[in-house]
Amino acid sequence: MGSVSVISTAARRLEGKVALITGGASGSGSSAAKLFCQHGAKVMIADIQDELGHSICKDLGPTHASFIHSDVTNEMDVQNAIDNSLAKHGKLDVMFNNAGIIGTRKLSILDSDKIEFENVLGVNVIGTFLGTKHAARVMIPVRRGSIINTASVSSIIGAATPHSYTSSNHAVLGLTRNTAVELGRFGIRVNCVSPSAVPTSMAKKFFDLQDDDPLDDIYSNLKGVALKPEDVAQAVLYLASDESKYVSGHNLIVDGGYSIFNQAISLFNE
Ligand SMILES: NC(=O)c1ccc[n+]([C@@H]2O[C@H](COP(=O)([O-])OP(=O)(O)OC[C@H]3O[C@@H](n4cnc5c(N)ncnc54)[C@H](O)[C@@H]3O)[C@@H](O)[C@H]2O)c1
Repeated sequence: MGSVSVISTAARRLEGKVALITGGASGSGSSAAKLFCQHGAKVMIADIQDELGHSICKDLGPTHASFIHSDVTNEMDVQNAIDNSLAKHGKLDVMFNNAGIIGTRKLSILDSDKIEFENVLGVNVIGTFLGTKHAARVMIPVRRGSIINTASVSSIIGAATPHSYTSSNHAVLGLTRNTAVELGRFGIRVNCVSPSAVPTSMAKKFFDLQDDDPLDDIYSNLKGVALKPEDVAQAVLYLASDESKYVSGHNLIVDGGYSIFNQAISLFNE
């Protein structure tokens, strides 16, 4: 038995679906895992944090969620995770390529380090590429599926994050669009979700925040509400469910209007 409270049948938006979530042991990925389970999905969490991943699956309950160790930069790991989903549940309906890292606050291009740049692109871009490739391998024969990639507002604007992270997010959006076109021929949808700053371990470490410290509200234009991992999960739920059945190649930005205005020239600053 787990602690997940599955909602009533009529309201379940992922009933009977099987979803694999990379980076599902923490932050927005674990919120999505919980929400997917509440909506009737069988969820597999693929992550490198084994202890945390197992403990989340225990909380959600073994009938709803299971964990598999998978480093998204390793093709064998990704292939195994997807094959495991097939062996366990007979199919894969939703692939959420969400694992990601941001690197350190070395902001100048002169201080930026090649190894770190490669690591960030390795997890964020190569990880998304491998997840998409192997999900497509099992989705093409059945001619259906929803692939969702996590990017960020840095997929469409510059200077909000370090060079490596911004580059990786632009690349994830490019890959999303390319694969949406190719895989659309097989009835498979590919979309992106792009949040601004979410208070997860990644952001807290990057901004050097303590557990209860709020994130700076310059990352939103909406006052009176703060972005939470649960809000990202709700956007991903939409893209995973059949409610978005005609949505593909889309970049769903979840940023409280942050990326559509320029603070320096806004008429509404007073
Ligand atoms: N937190 C933010 O402000 C923010 C904003 C926009 C986008 N994002 C993106 O959201 C996604 C989720 O991040 P989060 O904010 O929940 O942070 P998080 O650190 O809480 O979660 C990231 C997860 O990815 C896992 N991971 C890292 N490297 C991995 C690898 N090689 N293989 C498998 N798993 C790996 C981590 O173990 C962790 O569980 C990331 O892609 C991140 O870039 C985060």
